[in-house]
Amino acid sequence: MSETPWWQQAVIYQIYPKSFNDTDGDGIGDLQGVINKMDYLKELGIDAIWLCPIYQSPQVDNGYDITDYRTVDLRYGNNQDLERLIHVAHQYDIKIIMDMVANHTSDQCQWFKESKLSRNNYFSDWYIWRDPKIDGSEPNNWGSNFGGSAWTYVPDRKQYYLHYYAPGQPDLNWENPRVREAIYDMMRYWKAHGVDGWRMDVVTSISKDQRFLNNANPQKLPFIVANQNNGPRLHEFLQEMHKEVLEPFSMMSVGESPDSTANTAYQLVDPKRKELDMVFTFEHMHVDRKKGGMNGRWDVQAFDLIELKHILASWQNKLDGRGWNALYFENHDRARTPSRWGNDKKYRYESSTAFATVLHGLKGTPFIYQGEEIGMTNPNFQLEDYEDIELKSDYKKYVDEYKTITKTDFLKAAHKISRDNARTPMQWDASRNSGFTTGKPWFKLNPNYSKINVKNDLKSHKSVFHYYQYLIRLRHENTILTEGTFELILPEHPQVFAYLRQEKNKKWLIFANLSDQNIVNPLTNFCLEEKQVIVSNYVHPDWEKLVPYQAAIIMLT
Ligand code: GLC
Repeated sequence: MSETPWWQQAVIYQIYPKSFNDTDGDGIGDLQGVINKMDYLKELGIDAIWLCPIYQSPQVDNGYDITDYRTVDLRYGNNQDLERLIHVAHQYDIKIIMDMVANHTSDQCQWFKESKLSRNNYFSDWYIWRDPKIDGSEPNNWGSNFGGSAWTYVPDRKQYYLHYYAPGQPDLNWENPRVREAIYDMMRYWKAHGVDGWRMDVVTSISKDQRFLNNANPQKLPFIVANQNNGPRLHEFLQEMHKEVLEPFSMMSVGESPDSTANTAYQLVDPKRKELDMVFTFEHMHVDRKKGGMNGRWDVQAFDLIELKHILASWQNKLDGRGWNALYFENHDRARTPSRWGNDKKYRYESSTAFATVLHGLKGTPFIYQGEEIGMTNPNFQLEDYEDIELKSDYKKYVDEYKTITKTDFLKAAHKISRDNARTPMQWDASRNSGFTTGKPWFKLNPNYSKINVKNDLKSHKSVFHYYQYLIRLRHENTILTEGTFELILPEHPQVFAYLRQEKNKKWLIFANLSDQNIVNPLTNFCLEEKQVIVSNYVHPDWEKLVPYQAAIIMLT
């Protein structure tokens, strides 16, 4: 039998370096800031850090636009700092996962600067160039995720280049073997510097359908975003990457996979296929999105718990035996869970810990996003306070141009789900700027930092931090959580998320009342008793009813 890979027993902590900890007073977090918090991370108990992009970048999309894959951006420090960070992390027995943004580069990348000069230099085919239509317009109706066309015209080449995101993020041409080799080589370079694995940004977009056909466009929009994932050569490219880098250098991989479903994900993560170790699905992130809306993520509706349960359960069941789940509720593109799906006022502790219980009880590798472990919340900013390119370009598109959503509704949606909700600086203590920086922070802080912060959580016995710390310990000490089978119970119950995990003769019940109501406990047939409680977010619960956001793990046998 082969040994269990380290990442299946791990809990991974995502750091958005820009907002984590600033040590040089420029208002931007840095690598030294991560090093300084290693004791904190060790105390939490995590096994690996996923570091969002720290490479040289003009920051059009906060570092997801890279000019040089091998150089640390001066904002964050330098390459020696990164080497030190990796070294220190390894001394703490913490692994380092880097962000690999290889669907696109920055338009300031030397490769692109050369590519756009002419049609016949070494880099000409490193990006995706197409001639205009006869009338000079874009080659097709593909839309950019950040608004407008996915094509931008360059007079020197008399051609358009493709960008699935901002014009400052041109898509690489993965059809060109030299591009693929350059990426693999960059991965080997970082392996040589001690990196343990990769989170792969929109990796399912790397292969494009070379016919470049128009997207179906029933609403007759000028440009339409569709069919941008899972292109015809995706699996071939990933298998090649696996063979060239991932397997020979034992690097872990988790790919961002916006369109994969529980039914198709095995094609990416079945170990027999030799592609990726895990993928981040978006399916469960859409349970508060109106179906068929015109405004993408801004069409917010009440959170549908039954749908959430069905999606997570089907990923558990369908990948069983042929793939491994990546488990998450928060990341740098998502809002804070207590504000989004829970109750960040009256039940902040309870709802943060309830969602944590149902996520960390599942089979897979849990990912914690910085601040999630202290129950940080959405900031409810005014429109002018937001920074994110997606929010700004979507506002222009939907509010100004299409007029499909009002300014008031857009702002309301932003308070619920905008990406910036997760990007406010980390709240370390109640001192000025939360101890994040002594300078002027690059992005406004959530004003609640005087109350919600790491220092308070570490001091208090009842805190979100200590609850997470315990959940992580449980996972390390109980193979039932990593290996045990999964069975969803009460699938149609409107408030309770409950499931069983079982390993040999051990059986655990994991549940949460994910509502702010007192309800009749639907689980009393399990003979719940105080002595069987492994973890609970209420002390001495009365088992006849479930109080708001009550959650627990119970040992049944
Ligand atoms: C991914 C990143 C996101 C970024 C986009 C383009 O979705 O997580 O932050 O804007 O890719 O790189």
